[in-house]
Amino acid sequence: MRRVRIAVMISGGGSNLQALMDAIDSGQIPAEIALVISSDKKAYGLDRAKKRGIPVDCLPEKEMSEDLLSEEILRRLHAFSIDLVLLAGYLKKIPEKVVKVYEEGIINVHPSLIPAFSGKGFYGEKVHRAVHERGVKITGATVHFVNEGMDEGPIILQESVSLTGLETPEEIGKKVLEVEHRILPKAVELFVKNKLKNQQGRILVKGDEVR
Ligand code: GRF
Repeated sequence: MRRVRIAVMISGGGSNLQALMDAIDSGQIPAEIALVISSDKKAYGLDRAKKRGIPVDCLPEKEMSEDLLSEEILRRLHAFSIDLVLLAGYLKKIPEKVVKVYEEGIINVHPSLIPAFSGKGFYGEKVHRAVHERGVKITGATVHFVNEGMDEGPIILQESVSLTGLETPEEIGKKVLEVEHRILPKAVELFVKNKLKNQQGRILVKGDEVR
């Protein structure tokens, strides 16, 4: 049977990409990563992919219009027969045209409990700094489908992290990344095994509703 073909989009270290590759190797996710696209040529995540012999590419190139970026992304996704796109620390906005073509076929991981600390300006370290400054006692991570909004798509999985208020933004980031490395592969496993159902914008895990 044809395995689900995944493209992973990154911008940095790629520890979430590593967690996905390990989950595929362990047999948790019956799929294959067929392409890795980075927004930064120097991203360490590209080295992780090359080590596994996964084809890599870089987008956007400087001064690329949204239309041209859409075309370039879609050309590559079609050339590699991609079924599912994962945003794993990809810090650029995905053009609306791509979101339309891959409706409920793009999944993002965000390092907070959406809707808290999400949307425009909330990404990477900026999230954990805001969490630290606000002094919240519970933060966490969210995996969601991508729609035209910023971090507004239907939520697939969330997991929380308890804080004492003493943690630095870096320590918060480390704790949240551990959670990301668990729930992103889990969400992909559920997607690939066709265990997700969208009920009026709420994502249910099939089998949950029979309780
Ligand atoms: C993660 O915390 C992700 O939620 C955020 O950027 C970070 C990327 O980490 N958007 P990595 O590149 O997967 O290590």
